[in-house]
Amino acid sequence: ISLKPYNTFGINAVAKHFVSVNTMDALQEVIALKGYENRLILGGGSNMLLTKDFDGLVIHINLKGIKIISESEDFVYVKAQAGENWHNFVLWCIKNNFGGVENLSLIPGNVGTSPIQNIGAYGVELKDVFESCEAISVRNYQQETFTNADCNFGYRNSIFKQEAKGKYIITSVIFKLTKQNHKLNINYGTIINELEAMNVKTPTIQSVSQAVIAIRESKLPNPKKIGNSGSFFKNPIIPKSQFDNLALNFKNIPSYPVNEDQVKVPAGWLIEQTGFKGKRFNNYGVHDKQALVLVNYSDAKGADILNLSKLIQKTVYRIFNISIEAEVNII
Ligand code: EPU
Repeated sequence: ISLKPYNTFGINAVAKHFVSVNTMDALQEVIALKGYENRLILGGGSNMLLTKDFDGLVIHINLKGIKIISESEDFVYVKAQAGENWHNFVLWCIKNNFGGVENLSLIPGNVGTSPIQNIGAYGVELKDVFESCEAISVRNYQQETFTNADCNFGYRNSIFKQEAKGKYIITSVIFKLTKQNHKLNINYGTIINELEAMNVKTPTIQSVSQAVIAIRESKLPNPKKIGNSGSFFKNPIIPKSQFDNLALNFKNIPSYPVNEDQVKVPAGWLIEQTGFKGKRFNNYGVHDKQALVLVNYSDAKGADILNLSKLIQKTVYRIFNISIEAEVNII
């Protein structure tokens, strides 16, 4: 079966075997199958680049459901199954006036994959609302709970990208959200500007969500129209001393503080300086409004996009002596 409808990059790679699971029992049964140990767990397919056909079993996690599991006057704990589309979940929260995920509006992908890379945007990360998740061990098929601390969240990072990589399948996530006294995060410059442009005097979770959606739509390509996986690279974190040196030659180099000794530099800016922004090679290229995003215009091969990403990495390294790391999983 072609995986094209199952990855937002729209790469036409073929899976030898494919199964979509709707229940926990089915999932446990499938991972216990002998002879199908070479598997690929697929959520929303929004953070992967398929570079070749997959000679094993693709397991599409299609567990559905969102429900309130407990609440107090101020907070609500909501459990969402892994196969729920992330943005649909955000919209459900906003409709119910539950605060915390509005800045994460319109991020592609599913609930179950959101903790793996600790999705984040506009000053908020998943870890800020994550209470715990349940995951099945692929070794003994038992369910385990991971608390926020267990997950070891970092910038685009978690235990599921480190020591637990490939060992668990996340089946549901519990979120802690606010019911009142929402703590809006509008300090990220572009959100304030967008709210002003929308003529919003008193921001709410609804208007912040709308502002984020407007910003994302203006910069990021819609995967339904142009194949992509969002940011292809992570923003590199470099020593402050190196940054200060670079700033002598590149007066406008932007940065975000990380700690006393380190700063994060937007990879999009670095790539833009290399001249790759908006470059098109036949059916793939670099997005013209955000250099961090690689795009598939029609029937590009994943391997071609991978090669382009390596060329960009090399060029950025040559000019800035900075290594930029892929954020997307290369399969
Ligand atoms: N910039 C450029 N040229 C570009 C792109 C960016 O010069 O082509 C510079 C500008 O100076 C801009 C700054 O980079 O002010 C930051 O750009 P932006 O606000 O678009 O954010 P980003 O750092 O490029 C990160 C996340 C995005 C997230 C935004 C907003 C990563 C790898 N990416 O991008 O996440 O939406 O911040 O918070 O951290 C994703 O992970 O898929 C993703 C889209």
